[in-house]
Amino acid sequence: MRCDQTAAWKLLQRNAQAFAGFDLRNAFAADAGRAAAFSQSTPYVFADLSKNHVDAATEALLQELAQQTGLAAHRDAMFRGEHINVSEDRAVMHWLLRQPAGSLSGKLAAPLAQVHETLNAMLHYAEQVRADDQITDVVNIGIGGSDLGPQMAVLALQDFALTGKRFHFVSNVDGHELAGVLKGLKAEHTLFLIASKTFTTIETMTNAHSALQWFKAQGGSDVARHFAALTTNVAAAAAFGISTTFGFWDWVGGRYSLWSAIGLPVAIAIGAAGFKDLLAGAHAMDQHFQTTPLAQNLPVRLGLLDVWYRNFLHYTSRSIAPYHSALRRVPAYLQQLEMESNGKRVDRNGQALTYGTSPVLWGEPGTNGQHAYFQMLHQGSDIVPMEFIAVKKPTHSLKDHHELLLANVIAQAQALMMGKDDAGGHKHFTGNRPSTFLLLDELTPASLGALIALQEHRVFVSGAVWGINSFDQWGVELGKVLAKDIHARILSGDASGLDASTAGLLNRVR
Ligand code: F6P
Repeated sequence: MRCDQTAAWKLLQRNAQAFAGFDLRNAFAADAGRAAAFSQSTPYVFADLSKNHVDAATEALLQELAQQTGLAAHRDAMFRGEHINVSEDRAVMHWLLRQPAGSLSGKLAAPLAQVHETLNAMLHYAEQVRADDQITDVVNIGIGGSDLGPQMAVLALQDFALTGKRFHFVSNVDGHELAGVLKGLKAEHTLFLIASKTFTTIETMTNAHSALQWFKAQGGSDVARHFAALTTNVAAAAAFGISTTFGFWDWVGGRYSLWSAIGLPVAIAIGAAGFKDLLAGAHAMDQHFQTTPLAQNLPVRLGLLDVWYRNFLHYTSRSIAPYHSALRRVPAYLQQLEMESNGKRVDRNGQALTYGTSPVLWGEPGTNGQHAYFQMLHQGSDIVPMEFIAVKKPTHSLKDHHELLLANVIAQAQALMMGKDDAGGHKHFTGNRPSTFLLLDELTPASLGALIALQEHRVFVSGAVWGINSFDQWGVELGKVLAKDIHARILSGDASGLDASTAGLLNRVR
């Protein structure tokens, strides 16, 4: 049933009105067990949800909403491999990429065997590259999911990465990016990975062609050794002239593809064992999502909280603040995950929705954000739920830094909630501002895998409750078509039939 037709939705609307007077400080004062009741451990991730605008009654209603919208059935359909991506008639099985070999029977046994066959080949290749001292630079050319995931993970796991190899990520069709990277490279020491699910994306293909031209112009000839393709479109990669190809399947969405061959840069950086740990951490979170009762299921609780905030308390954005510099690309990664998945205005049947969906997601690593936009979070006119991500143990031994970092993240969450009284003047902080606190013991391949899988599943949960298809992205396709037309007009100068603004800009850039 559509969420806005359920009894729980109406009860939540009524509950939201009563909630206007909710104050976190009072909630903690009234309930000594609040921190414990709203905290939980999952594989690799501890979560404290207690500083959120939520109480037990609201969580119970949100759980009813989950029941009445068939969340568990939708989740189980995904894990059975049903075609829940209805507009593209595809299964949604990124989770299968981290499923242990031989662990499934029935119709999923064969795809799982293929997953492991490809994984083994890719990891074998990754080890070969790692052992190849001639290759000092790995350049990943891809965009969107074919860039953000591997880039985020290579950065996050830099402490586990092989020294002696540099990793570069080129995504933008803006030639300044590729030119800047190529400047520092030598053809005989470079491996280009052309990462594209479709192998048709114009940015990636343009960069790939330029990289190939550069390689040949530098005297490079062994394309098989210096170029590899990561794609579902093996034929297009072959037509491009690349014979070293690692495939994946149409049931892996671009923004969910880190675990597939798209993860090759990560595997080269951290090795086969490290990549397997990443998959294992994500799999542990898959199991938590699949088997834990909904009331104790962290992705479910987070996803339902997202719905509560978006549709009932009308908070329109969420800010991510990873307090670990290695996690600095996590906000960008989560932006695509949330907004490309749930930025939809029709339900799974194509019917227009009457309620909001994806929040705006944004953020920067702490403590940098504190000296930039935290002003607005503390004293601005809008309430922005925060999501802090912290790591207990550092991997460096510099004195004082980590304690200071952790002090800052805890203090920010505290200050947002507690506020500061200044009789309403400039130095007054209203407080009562909500935040979620996610804590990893250590940042490792396994804990990163669990953290990312947690985020994937929470996006699934809110999308399922909203009744939308979180696995297509028709909104991005239009841009691909429009740019083709304008590109031809920039080359020809033909501005006929265009609106005056577009024609004016076209003439100016020529
Ligand atoms: O931007 C749309 C999109 O399809 C993303 O979903 C995807 O991650 C990106 O383009 C790149 O696509 P591809 O991997 O096919 O080049």
